[in-house]
Amino acid sequence: MPKSNLMAKTGFLPTLMFLLLFSTFRAILSANSPNISTDQSALLALKSYITHDPHNLLATNWSSSTSVCNWIGVTCGSRHHRVTALDLSSMDLTGIIPSQLGNLSFLALLDISQNSFHGSLPTELIDLHRLKYLNFGNNSFSGEIPSWFGYFPTLESLYLYGNNFTGVIPSTFGNLSKLETLIMYHNNLKGQIPLRIENCSNLIKLYLEDN
Ligand SMILES: *[C@@H]1O[C@H](CO)[C@@H](O)[C@H](O)[C@H]1NC(C)=O
Ligand SMILES: *[C@@H]1O[C@H](CO)[C@@H](O)[C@H](O)[C@H]1NC(C)=O
Ligand SMILES: *[C@@H]1O[C@H](CO)[C@@H](O)[C@H](O)[C@H]1NC(C)=O
Ligand SMILES: *[C@@H]1O[C@H](CO)[C@@H](O)[C@H](O)[C@H]1NC(C)=O
Ligand SMILES: *[C@@H]1O[C@H](CO)[C@@H](O)[C@H](O)[C@H]1NC(C)=O
Ligand SMILES: *[C@@H]1O[C@H](CO)[C@@H](O)[C@H](O)[C@H]1NC(C)=O
Ligand SMILES: *[C@@H]1O[C@H](CO)[C@@H](O)[C@H](O)[C@H]1NC(C)=O
Repeated sequence: MPKSNLMAKTGFLPTLMFLLLFSTFRAILSANSPNISTDQSALLALKSYITHDPHNLLATNWSSSTSVCNWIGVTCGSRHHRVTALDLSSMDLTGIIPSQLGNLSFLALLDISQNSFHGSLPTELIDLHRLKYLNFGNNSFSGEIPSWFGYFPTLESLYLYGNNFTGVIPSTFGNLSKLETLIMYHNNLKGQIPLRIENCSNLIKLYLEDN
């Protein structure tokens, strides 16, 4: 047997083992990593917590038989094929925000303003660490402003106006180094503006009146 042939044969085994290991790891990883199906179940959970949808927008449009990316108000990113924006503003919806919404891990924009969402905000939303724009304005949310709002590293705009949020502005807001717009007028807030806000060096608009 020529020497080169023998080397080719013995060299084949490690390569095969590597390929096997690699594909096994990849299968394990992808079995556990979230994908567009995760986003679909998160949005279906939200739909199931909507108690009033007078224009039947979600009732007829958010159907499992079409891709989530074609649902009204939903935008997907082309690169990872995950939901990147959810805009349900001014749809006259009533309901609460379920913890599953925190599974939309590629979400950069969340706008549910001008509706009648109520209750408090689930802590799981802290997992939305890619958020840049968050608008909960003109709903009926209550409870204290969650301190975990301060843990969104890329957040640029936060609108909480026109709700019934109580308590003080959490000092964690000082961590929002990208924050440009913070609109919280017309709530039930009290106390002082935390000094740490001065660390929000990109802040341009701060509206706190009517509290
Ligand atoms: C999403 O991941 C699950 C496992 O977690 C898998 O069963 C499913 O086929 C995947 N869906 C897509 C669209 O990749
Ligand atoms: C849902 O709404 C979107 C946007 O208005 C529309 O393009 C799509 O065809 C609708 N899908 C269904 C199944 O009604
Ligand atoms: C989504 O989130 C919920 C609650 O936060 C969790 O229990 C569930 O396992 C998650 N579902 C998926 C498909 O990742
Ligand atoms: C919020 O709702 C009030 C009362 O319905 C309305 O007058 C106001 O214009 C809304 N604010 C915004 C920013 O749309
Ligand atoms: C706002 O919350 C406070 C304290 O929980 C409550 O007393 C008040 O009735 C609420 N106001 C509205 C308009 O819901
Ligand atoms: C955010 O701010 C709080 C209080 O100002 C601080 O204790 C915490 O370490 C900060 N967290 C991050 C992730 O920067
Ligand atoms: C702003 O951040 C710096 C560095 O993280 C910290 O030392 C300082 O105390 C902060 N200022 C305020 C007012 O919290």
